[in-house]
Amino acid sequence: TRLPGLLRSMPKAELHMHIEGSLEPEMIFRLAERNGVKLAYASVEALREAYAFTDLQSFLDIYYAGASVLLTQQDFYDMARAYLDRAVADNVVRAEMFFDPQTHTERGVAMATVIEGLHRACVDAEREQGISAALILCFLRHLPEEAALQTLEDALPFRDRFIGVGLDSSEVGHPPEKFARVFARARDLGLHLVAHAGEEGPPAYIWSALDVLGVERIDHGVQAVHDPDLMDRLARDRIALTVCPLSNEKLCVFPTLADHNIQRLLDAGLAATVNSDDPAYFGGYMNTNFTRLFEQVPGLTAQHAYQLAFNSIEASFAAVADKQRWQ
Ligand code: ADE
Ligand code: ZN
Repeated sequence: TRLPGLLRSMPKAELHMHIEGSLEPEMIFRLAERNGVKLAYASVEALREAYAFTDLQSFLDIYYAGASVLLTQQDFYDMARAYLDRAVADNVVRAEMFFDPQTHTERGVAMATVIEGLHRACVDAEREQGISAALILCFLRHLPEEAALQTLEDALPFRDRFIGVGLDSSEVGHPPEKFARVFARARDLGLHLVAHAGEEGPPAYIWSALDVLGVERIDHGVQAVHDPDLMDRLARDRIALTVCPLSNEKLCVFPTLADHNIQRLLDAGLAATVNSDDPAYFGGYMNTNFTRLFEQVPGLTAQHAYQLAFNSIEASFAAVADKQRWQ
């Protein structure tokens, strides 16, 4: 590994991780047992062997099945505390965690169960470990906009427990503009706005995330390199891209990690960041994403490492005083 000490020790923010994607196979089995949920896999090893993905959808099918073991407030709390422990170990000073309420409310789990469990974990980790943690509610884009609107209304009693909304799940065929009304409503509520765009989908989806939804950051965004005008726009407006190297490798967005375009993004002046996306499924948490990326992409330097860490804190939704303290 090149620059391992620097990569591990530098203070950083994680801006793109799905808390349900931090469920390790061992915890899936422990929660299945605790809750009497039947799994389609006989053992931890058999489940882990199923983690061989060809594209985003092949991953999502297994990811939603894994989340089916989450039933009680304690389950959500335990999952989030386990992730935040790993984040602290990687010198993550700020974590903005996505959660997918529809994955749970569709199974009969109450919104209060999901949000209160996750929120309590954030509060306790902040108090006991000093990490700053916040929640971003994501809408599932394979479902209709009406379901997203209902989900936002259902979450309003807990408005002070999340800082923004995002858009995730199956990208191609579900462009951002499908969710124009629910993002307008979220904006009126004073929520931060982000969306997955340009992971597998075309540059046009990044344009409409910016210009129709009005998002402040683009999750993934690596397909922007196919549109020079879009690259100019992202650089000029310092729109952060929350890039996920190991996710892109595992979901075959790039043939190998060595083919990743993050250096091109950085050298074009874009505010790229490094994130783990679904660390339990893609082979590693924050520092593994950094160290494997710098191992594999030969042109990356210490300057790039500093830039990535700086960008992550700058693009976070933390208070200005906190950002100054971390930089
Ligand atoms: N949900 C969890 N991980 C995701 C990803 N990488 N893209 C879209 N939806 C997701
Ligand atoms: Zn994601």
